[in-house]
Amino acid sequence: MNEIRLFAPASVANVSCGFDVLGFCLDPVGDEMVVRKVAEKGVRITKIEGEDLPMETEKNVAGVAALAYLEEHPCAYGFEIEIYKKIKPGSGIGSSSASAAGAVFGVNYLMDKPLPKAALVKYAMAGESLASGAAHADNVAPVIMGGFTLVRSIAPLEVIQLPTPKELIAVILHPKIELKTAHARSILKKTVPLNKAIQQWGNLAAFVSALYTDNYSLLSRCMIDEIIEPYRSMLIPEFDAIRSSAINAGALGSGISGSGPSIFALSQGEEKAKNIAKAMAKIISNLPIEHEVFISKINTEGIRILNQQ
Ligand code: HSE
Repeated sequence: MNEIRLFAPASVANVSCGFDVLGFCLDPVGDEMVVRKVAEKGVRITKIEGEDLPMETEKNVAGVAALAYLEEHPCAYGFEIEIYKKIKPGSGIGSSSASAAGAVFGVNYLMDKPLPKAALVKYAMAGESLASGAAHADNVAPVIMGGFTLVRSIAPLEVIQLPTPKELIAVILHPKIELKTAHARSILKKTVPLNKAIQQWGNLAAFVSALYTDNYSLLSRCMIDEIIEPYRSMLIPEFDAIRSSAINAGALGSGISGSGPSIFALSQGEEKAKNIAKAMAKIISNLPIEHEVFISKINTEGIRILNQQ
């Protein structure tokens, strides 16, 4: 096999209660990528469509991630990567993570899948670090592994796959303004008051328990972020009103997706999700900001192979 075409999905990180450690994989939106084996060693980005991103391997998140993989797993041939970008950079739904994860997945697959999915997260993180200036795996892990993932530690890397309650549906509202992750991280306080930390580890632990027990009302009570969101929400027009509209329309919870500006909501069932999407869109349509809203099941598979030859 010499070439693989894959779908690298978008994702939601943090999920309100798990800053930098919790994330889940989305379904309908994602990048397409072609990874091709070639005789010349190394990694080259040969095509990028949809966005204006660096073609130089060392400046491109996909290139950096693939190089990180090959550094530890040298091989006798090289790779070309084509990226068909569908996830807007700076949208908060894991644009750089999808490209980084897709590159590592593709290279690994063409080398006859020497590593299991969980082991690929480490290399995709190298690309994510380039994009955000900080190593974290809460987007790349669910893109590669699917479903919900929990990053217990990044050094050494330990990622735990969590179960996905069957009726859980996500709604994403993307206000089309660009928010760079590096900036959204730079405004955060470096210390957390003990009372807030206590509340947050309680919420995160109970959220994980709710996933294992399909306990939607417990899950709803856990989706609180009093540590990060108060600062970042100032960067997102009408965040509080949009979040409240989602909750009033029946959302289990709602918050900033990753570092924003996208706002996610979780719903029990698709009918409710449609109402939540309408309510969120109604608030933002009063603003002079272009936006899109979509509903997604939780993608439990992660990256998908579209074809191979
Ligand atoms: N956990 C990261 C953040 C996700 O919120 O900054 C975005 O890469």
